[in-house]
Amino acid sequence: METKRSFTDKVIYQIYPRSFCDSNGDGIGDIQGIISKLDYLKDLGVDCLWLSPIYKSPLMDMGYDVADYYSIHPDYGTMEDFDRLLKEADKRGLRIIMDLVVNHTSDQHEWFKASRDPSSPYRDYYIWRKGKKDGVPPNNWTSMFTGPAWTYDSQSEEWYLHLYSSEQPDLNFHNEKVVEEVERILRFYLDKGVYGFRCDVINQCYKESLDDGKGLSPSGRGMEHYLCSEGNHKLLRRFYDDVFSHYDCVVIGETYAIDVENGRRYLDNHELDMFFQFDTANCDNFLLPLFKKKFKPRYLRDVIYKWQTGVSWMANYLENHDQPRSINHYGDPVKFPKASAKALAVLNLTLRGTPFIYQGEEIGMTNLPLQDPEQSQDVSCRQVNEILKKLPFTKKTRYKLANRVNRDHARTPMQWNDAVSAGFSTSEKTWLPVNPNYKAVNVASESADPASVLNFYKALLQLRKKDEVFVYGDFRPIMVHGDLIAYQRVYKDERRFILINLTGKEVKIPRHLILDGAKLLLSSLPVQGYRMGFLSPFEADIFEIK
Ligand code: BGC
Ligand code: CA
Repeated sequence: METKRSFTDKVIYQIYPRSFCDSNGDGIGDIQGIISKLDYLKDLGVDCLWLSPIYKSPLMDMGYDVADYYSIHPDYGTMEDFDRLLKEADKRGLRIIMDLVVNHTSDQHEWFKASRDPSSPYRDYYIWRKGKKDGVPPNNWTSMFTGPAWTYDSQSEEWYLHLYSSEQPDLNFHNEKVVEEVERILRFYLDKGVYGFRCDVINQCYKESLDDGKGLSPSGRGMEHYLCSEGNHKLLRRFYDDVFSHYDCVVIGETYAIDVENGRRYLDNHELDMFFQFDTANCDNFLLPLFKKKFKPRYLRDVIYKWQTGVSWMANYLENHDQPRSINHYGDPVKFPKASAKALAVLNLTLRGTPFIYQGEEIGMTNLPLQDPEQSQDVSCRQVNEILKKLPFTKKTRYKLANRVNRDHARTPMQWNDAVSAGFSTSEKTWLPVNPNYKAVNVASESADPASVLNFYKALLQLRKKDEVFVYGDFRPIMVHGDLIAYQRVYKDERRFILINLTGKEVKIPRHLILDGAKLLLSSLPVQGYRMGFLSPFEADIFEIK
């Protein structure tokens, strides 16, 4: 175990501010709403709160398109509100982590608006190029949201690069001034007492070259020229040397399509403190995120084992604002919603690394029923839907496919109680619909139910808090056939043994795993079957063994 850092034993809770709690009845979550729920979060047992972006933004990509890094979007409040949140959180021993979105800005950012004039000193803040010829972009790269990664600007007769939507022009990190601007942003928030940053698509921000990409992928073509590039590693190390190493802070990378070798480099070279990998989210992909094969727990198990044994520290997550709800993705929302939520909680909270809980995951929130993709508030879903409409899919199939990438499912209002709008807002009209299951799935009713998902999360978090093996222990996978998930955590002479059945069927436990003297610490089911040599559907058990 490397030296203990201040984040080592911390649990991080992700808040999607627009959907967490609305304090002024406009149907939109806000900072004052977050402040009103700090006692709930403290009582839950989490330590840090990562806020998805709250900066001024046209909200083309729900805030991942920043128009001013130094001001708060009026929907969420003011900078004074944010300062009060920092103070109120600090009073409760909670620390705030901001979402750093610097691979790109909004096209409404002053820098970009100025950069459209070729003679502007801001021109080189972005990546402007002449097309190959009339109407042909400078290269064949495709956006991560599909479609070309370039947009033509008739005002200056050049194209500008955007790896995401055309309203999200990429910053140019070859430009020293851009590096300095970002360091100013980092210091501004760290000096306010922010604990650190979750860095948005941070392994894509340094483009080594603009040569054509290989392959035909409808999204992300050309990635070989910017993913985890040498310049990217150098840049992150520079942020560490210039800024992060001078603060008690945590730097979390969102590193799309990362591999173990680059992951090791980011950690060992102090370029990041931890990072999110995407293999778990994509473990059941079939070619593209659009096409999924039937999920099997072994897909999830094998990628988790790869990362747990591949690098020294992981950011562990099963859902966030970009992914389907984990019960829908990896569990059984119809027959075993609560049991699968608890089994997934055991997995996420007993792995080695920093656990991330996404708002609503702790009460077992699930995806919305199928939505009309045209109505989606998610730009990437709408863009994919436009492409699907040109293909010979039935409406039913198009709905099914588009909803696989409809991030609204994870962004519906947090369900606090069974009152109007689930207690999220006093307004009946909310920016996204409340999930119809809120009468049963909500904080208030689950707080009163000892067998609820919420109370299981609290028990798990308390176990984790008092048992340092879960924080410092090595991860030891136990390879078994089929879909059974079994591993140990070992620290000094302490051993913990975790067994998880992520299927809806009873699973036989191999003889050699029935360990005498195994003392049950916590089970996801009121009655666990380990002694009898089997695991019930979605049973997860944590043992202390000698
Ligand atoms: C964010 C997405 C966003 C994308 C572009 C991702 O890291 O999580 O919500 O659409 O970056 O900023
Ligand atoms: Ca509001």
